[in-house]
Amino acid sequence: IDLTQPLDRDTAAALNRAFVEHAVLVVRGQSLQPRDFLAVAKQFGTPVRQHLEQFNIPDCPDVSTISNQEKTKTGKINVRGVSWHTDHSFTPEPPKATMLYSVALPDTGGNTHWAHMGAAYEALSPDLRTRVDGLSAVHAYTDSRVPPDLDERKREAAEDVTDGVAHPLARTHPDSGGKAIYLNPLRVRRFLGMAPEDCSGLIGDLVAHATQPEFTYTHRWQLGDMVIWDNRCCMHKADTDYDFNQIRLMYRIILAGDKPF
Ligand code: OGA
Ligand code: MN
Repeated sequence: IDLTQPLDRDTAAALNRAFVEHAVLVVRGQSLQPRDFLAVAKQFGTPVRQHLEQFNIPDCPDVSTISNQEKTKTGKINVRGVSWHTDHSFTPEPPKATMLYSVALPDTGGNTHWAHMGAAYEALSPDLRTRVDGLSAVHAYTDSRVPPDLDERKREAAEDVTDGVAHPLARTHPDSGGKAIYLNPLRVRRFLGMAPEDCSGLIGDLVAHATQPEFTYTHRWQLGDMVIWDNRCCMHKADTDYDFNQIRLMYRIILAGDKPF
């Protein structure tokens, strides 16, 4: 398939069905400019402007970048996406999908991993599934790239931090009807009605369960790969196991989503 060419209706429908069925699609050997990539994205949904505006491509701002050259205000390298998460879960209507197109890659390493949270949900023990079914999680943005530890959760509970949005921990996929564990260890601050120590324990247990090899896929990037994944039923993370003198750069698009239910 050549994604610079308009997709006919049957092909676009087949790709969308494959996306719902498989959650991660990889299309290799593409040669896309930001504008081509944006046109591809519109075959899957509605691209939305990304909130870290400094990374948006000036003459095509609905396409953003993610790279290993990003720095904090103090000049420290700050790579996004290196710990298990799902994108933008701190918003009331998190994006249904994220798309990456590889522009520059290190010689080796820098793989991306996905965990299928629908498969992980189906494999929960009946007791744990009942527990997950009854919980809501409060998600909030911080600029941290690592999950909060138990001390931080206790401090937040003591300070009665109330900002953030609550989403069900067991989420129903609007297109497939299947349920998935909707967890973002980076942004979930607490579960409603649960003590901080129990929150940390449950998150740890669910991540350990969901990231077992049978629920995960690891992508070894080649230049020209286009990947789209379903944020409603996947967590993902990137490896940082390579020489940071080599540039790793992706174009990035997110697609509008619905309020989780
Ligand atoms: C992202 C992300 C992982 C990667 O774009 O949301 O987490 O492999 N990317 O760069
Ligand atoms: Mn991400």
